[in-house]
Amino acid sequence: RGKRAFVAGVADDQGFGWAISKALTQAGAEVILGTWVPALNIFETSLRRGKFDESRVLSDGSLMEFAKVYAMDAVYDSPEDVPESVKTNKRYAANSEFTVSEVAAKVKEDFGSIDIVVHSLANGPEVAKPLLETSRGGYLAAVSASTYSFVSMVQRFAPIMNEGGSFISLTYLAGERVVPGYGGGMSSAKAALESDTKVLAWEAGRKHNVRVNTISAGPLGSRAAKAIGFIDDMIQYSGKCSPLSQRELQAEEVGNVATFLCSPLASAVTGTCLYVDHGLHIMGLGV
Ligand code: NAI
Repeated sequence: RGKRAFVAGVADDQGFGWAISKALTQAGAEVILGTWVPALNIFETSLRRGKFDESRVLSDGSLMEFAKVYAMDAVYDSPEDVPESVKTNKRYAANSEFTVSEVAAKVKEDFGSIDIVVHSLANGPEVAKPLLETSRGGYLAAVSASTYSFVSMVQRFAPIMNEGGSFISLTYLAGERVVPGYGGGMSSAKAALESDTKVLAWEAGRKHNVRVNTISAGPLGSRAAKAIGFIDDMIQYSGKCSPLSQRELQAEEVGNVATFLCSPLASAVTGTCLYVDHGLHIMGLGV
């Protein structure tokens, strides 16, 4: 039987979540998506209208299909966490059961079990502000959306995972080194995510016999990254300073490593942060 993967954080064909979905599909997995509620409608419409068809082409010429797309908002764990103002918001009102526990329950109901869970989402409302100017609310929102969301997903999905199951998230060098411009508590959120990768690997490893890893990815001009504002500079810096500087990082390169990490080839790998960044993290000085 092929593996079944749940990928959270796909709302277009530009980001890491899409590339990971594609690499997993290419490797024979069935892919289910969890898409952020406010982005769901436009994503499904674009998908239906063929806007992503070029990006959907697999090596045998067929198009990548998603087994199902669930509405999801990873800042809420269960229905009682959703504020009235959100429930009645027009983009949310059209959807239901989008909290993490409800999505996990629906995946269980619809598919029975899961082998792979990918967390490819982040949000920091004050990302453009330096930490020195970040509000408590902005900081906590960044950690809630970008880090606790992963803890919450491991809590709810690990119990429905098959033997050999595996979790993966995406982190960024700014969690361990200073990257000026990556503000709003997003650096803190990534530091926490990297630490949680280890603690969850231990806890969920012992309790559920599943693996937990994170990929520290190099810069990619995704939608989320463009919102930060300095992504073009980061791509240029990476091209100038990393050991493999001849070309830009391709999302597909991250997709391939994610697929390896979630495969039996990596059955002894857990709690690690694997750099997929053309080696930029080893440099002490930009040249
Ligand atoms: P992206 O825009 O493709 O993905 C982010 C996704 O998160 C979007 O689909 C968005 O709808 C979703 N999202 C935001 N808040 C959410 C919520 N509350 N619930 C559910 N979904 C929510 O951008 P990208 O860059 O591919 O991001 C994926 C991951 O990669 C993130 O964790 C990001 O921090 C990480 N990363 C990105 C790098 C880059 O240069 N683009 C570098 C290193 C890591």
